[in-house]
Amino acid sequence: MRKPIIAIDGPAGAGKSTVARGVAAKLGYLYIDTGAMYRAVAVKAAESRIPLDDPDRIVDLANNLDIYFLKEIDGAQHIFTDGDDLTEAVRTPEATRLSSPVSAIPGVRHRLVELQRKMGAQGGVVMEGRDIGTYVFPDAEVKIFLTASPEERARRRHKDLEAAGIPAEVEKVAAEIRERDQRDSSRAMAPLRKADDAALIDTDDMSVEEVVQKVIDIHDSKVKECCTG
Ligand code: DC
Repeated sequence: MRKPIIAIDGPAGAGKSTVARGVAAKLGYLYIDTGAMYRAVAVKAAESRIPLDDPDRIVDLANNLDIYFLKEIDGAQHIFTDGDDLTEAVRTPEATRLSSPVSAIPGVRHRLVELQRKMGAQGGVVMEGRDIGTYVFPDAEVKIFLTASPEERARRRHKDLEAAGIPAEVEKVAAEIRERDQRDSSRAMAPLRKADDAALIDTDDMSVEEVVQKVIDIHDSKVKECCTG
């Protein structure tokens, strides 16, 4: 029997990556960070000096880009495009800023959703993003919508940036998060939205371990439901 697909969606800074990685490790599932794929297209577009107001060229670039994930010897998952390891490049503030407008280009979404559906088709995956439960895998067995208050999300992002040695002001991080949420939720194609059948988890007062356990409990009860008829 095919293993479930776990779709984890939510706004920036809700803890999706940490939780998705933790759930995948515990279940032995594949972890797919779809945000990194939009970031990779943004990095490549900037490298090729394609401006944001030339979406046709960005779509063309995305269509010709081979994007894939590989587990490296450090045990972490790395993202590659045509043999280039972009794992660090996709995390710069510039890549963060460019990824939102790039992800609003319908042709780019079309290409990346096609790749994501191929990556997840076998099941046994934890895929995180903004539209996984609503658009990429509307029939996913487990759907989670992770949120946290804007203040908490800004605080977490700020902490991540500091840990990466990138200086930032909390207020500025909060303003960028608000702007990105607004853009990601209001775009025409597959905007950020909770699927009607997704479980809502507000992570404000929860530890990472508690959230991971909650997702695993939901997964286990779905598996039981399916197999006991
Ligand atoms: O999750 P993230 O911050 O790495 O995502 C980067 C950008 O890509 C963000 O602005 C939202 C967008 N994105 C999207 O539109 N759809 C997804 N499935 C994943 C990310």
